[in-house]
Amino acid sequence: MADRPYTLLSCGMSIDGYLDGAQGDRLLLSNDADLDRVDAVRATNDAILVGAGTVRKDNPRLLVRDRARRDERVSRGLPPSPIKVTVTGCAQLDACAQFFTVGESEKLVYCASAAMAEARERLGSVATVVDGGQPVSMRRVSEDLHARGVRRLMVEGGGIVHTQFLTAALADELHLVVAPFFVGDSRASRFVGDGRFPWNPDRRATLAEVRRIGDVVLLRYALSERFPG
Ligand SMILES: NC(=O)c1ccc[n+]([C@@H]2O[C@H](COP(=O)([O-])OP(=O)(O)OC[C@H]3O[C@@H](n4cnc5c(N)ncnc54)[C@H](OP(=O)(O)O)[C@@H]3O)[C@@H](O)[C@H]2O)c1
Repeated sequence: MADRPYTLLSCGMSIDGYLDGAQGDRLLLSNDADLDRVDAVRATNDAILVGAGTVRKDNPRLLVRDRARRDERVSRGLPPSPIKVTVTGCAQLDACAQFFTVGESEKLVYCASAAMAEARERLGSVATVVDGGQPVSMRRVSEDLHARGVRRLMVEGGGIVHTQFLTAALADELHLVVAPFFVGDSRASRFVGDGRFPWNPDRRATLAEVRRIGDVVLLRYALSERFPG
């Protein structure tokens, strides 16, 4: 089996496990202190991956916000922010989305084989479009990123993407932040969907840290032997 990057999954969810509300603007689950923590984690990674659903719904910038952290990366010969990575099956992404237009770092789009022609036409001028298989295999994505020099990958959602990294046993660490409220609407995206997860009642994950950050709590899980002990 080919090498893959050390992979950290990061997300914020409501008490009832939702990543967002069912409609309207992006739901703020985190707080300022936690957003700063996420920024620090971003700065330690070589690439950040989100699903196409998140690019469309949230229009994220996916940059390291803090100048000192960007400067520190540059002093190490790295781009100010990590490489941006997304995954799509249908290639319906807007080349004007901030994912593509903001920041100097490389942008990679892993596209299902059947939509490669459309993806190249739409996004070829703003990103490197890579054939990810049919459908895109997260293992193939991970191995291709490793071949491109990515040693640390941060996956920031959404739920469809998290589910695949977890069920394929491609995650080494999970940062789960729980916000102190309920969403209570099953039309909203959940942290994960159905699947066979490597961690179950017979094989419990290791809770490595619990940290209170203002009104939210960070749960840090070790999911593989690669987690630094
Ligand atoms: N709270 C948080 O920390 C957090 C973080 C991120 C996102 N979110 C929220 O999560 C929601 C989005 O999550 P989501 O689960 O709906 O979507 P998602 O995981 O962001 O993206 C799903 C999309 O990614 C593409 N994709 C995923 N796996 C694929 C595969 N194997 N092959 C081909 N394409 C694949 C497909 O794109 P196409 O449809 O283009 O084919 C799919 O529709 C938003 O509401 C967002 O606000 C919350």
